[in-house]
Amino acid sequence: MNTLISNKVNSLNGEIEVPGDKSISHRAVLLSMLSEGQTILENYLSSEDINRTIEVSRYLGADIYLKNEIMEVHGIGLEGLVKPKRILDFGNAGTSIRLFMGILAAQNFESALTGDKSLKKRPMERVAEPLRAMGAIIETNEGKLPITIKAINKLNNLSYKLDIPSAQIKSSILLASLFTDGKTVIKTNFKTRDHTEIMLKDFSAGIEIKNNTISIDGGNLTSPEYIYIPGDLSSASFLILATLISKESKIKIKNVGLNPTRMGFIEIMKLMNADIEVNVENKFNSKEKIGSILVRSSNLKAIDVPKNLITSAIDELPLVFLAAACAEGTTLIKNAKELRFKESDRIKAMVTNLSSLSIEVKEYDDGARIKGGPIKGATLESFDDHRVAMTCLLASCRSESPVIVRNCFNINTSFPTFKETMNSIGMDINEY
Ligand code: S3P
Repeated sequence: MNTLISNKVNSLNGEIEVPGDKSISHRAVLLSMLSEGQTILENYLSSEDINRTIEVSRYLGADIYLKNEIMEVHGIGLEGLVKPKRILDFGNAGTSIRLFMGILAAQNFESALTGDKSLKKRPMERVAEPLRAMGAIIETNEGKLPITIKAINKLNNLSYKLDIPSAQIKSSILLASLFTDGKTVIKTNFKTRDHTEIMLKDFSAGIEIKNNTISIDGGNLTSPEYIYIPGDLSSASFLILATLISKESKIKIKNVGLNPTRMGFIEIMKLMNADIEVNVENKFNSKEKIGSILVRSSNLKAIDVPKNLITSAIDELPLVFLAAACAEGTTLIKNAKELRFKESDRIKAMVTNLSSLSIEVKEYDDGARIKGGPIKGATLESFDDHRVAMTCLLASCRSESPVIVRNCFNINTSFPTFKETMNSIGMDINEY
């Protein structure tokens, strides 16, 4: 899947499910590994990023079996991890490495962590710093990979004010705190995704959440035995935008995660006049909200994207850039500097690609101003970023000539069946 070509299509239609949620799949493997007992994970995401989490968990001693889309994890408990015999390579997986840092920081053995070209550019100090405050010994390469985490006896508790809107930092501290004897407290003014907190409760951890404060006790986890992982709303968002910007289109996405901390993209689209209906359903005994989404073609209108929706739409902001290019008027996206620290600098990547598609864009340090207008097909770079690649391939829903995107291999990190899924509702995406 190197270079993909996306041809103009007419209407998009269908009822469809998307693969399991990436954030929840990582957490389900990790907490199952750290718990006592066996856990069955149904509808986990089978992708490169999750493969890294599975591989590293196995190097640390967990037995994990994959059969017929079911994962069976044999927990080894908090005391059961073994020293890995090799350097732990996390590939492109930012969530995986940051969550594992919290676990590895607490071990009485040393570990060495690395990743691919994109992961090596991303900031790791933001996770190392609070873990060091708990007593961890972490050496970074000027704040980046490779990292060495030294052996220690025991981590201390922490009272921490989180100033970056990052679920990965929060989750890393939460996982580290399991290995302590007392209570750890995290205060944050940002409502980042709360899958770790929800799942820790499911594993009977002593966790309490009051307003902006999370308190967690160290101690063992007990497996809930079974977890159903909902479809990934971030993957569903590609289907949602493609439908909104295509003519006479209507799709229904079923069994998808509807966690309120992830709903920013849908809320932004609704503010832009999108016709989207969300139905929460009680299913699969899931602790996460789950349900269906009905989407119809819409005439999108420009908005100033509200600051309070940025964090809950963080992974979907490249799609908001494209939505803005398809909307009537000029859209303003600000307060989104975190986009510069993702798998690529997503502000630069989207500004560059929208300009190549003949859209008028002005770049800001923390966002962009985008004037909706006719899109002309072009050959674009993915910037080695899965979400940039997938977003740009949707531009063909609005252009007469094809959109070609180079270096699409990273789509495998989060949505390996992207091409087939999009084509099943009527798109025409092929190898070039
Ligand atoms: C994630 C948190 C977010 C998000 C990433 C997944 C997670 O990153 O962008 O794709 O699963 O915790 P940050 O914590 O850096 O905001």
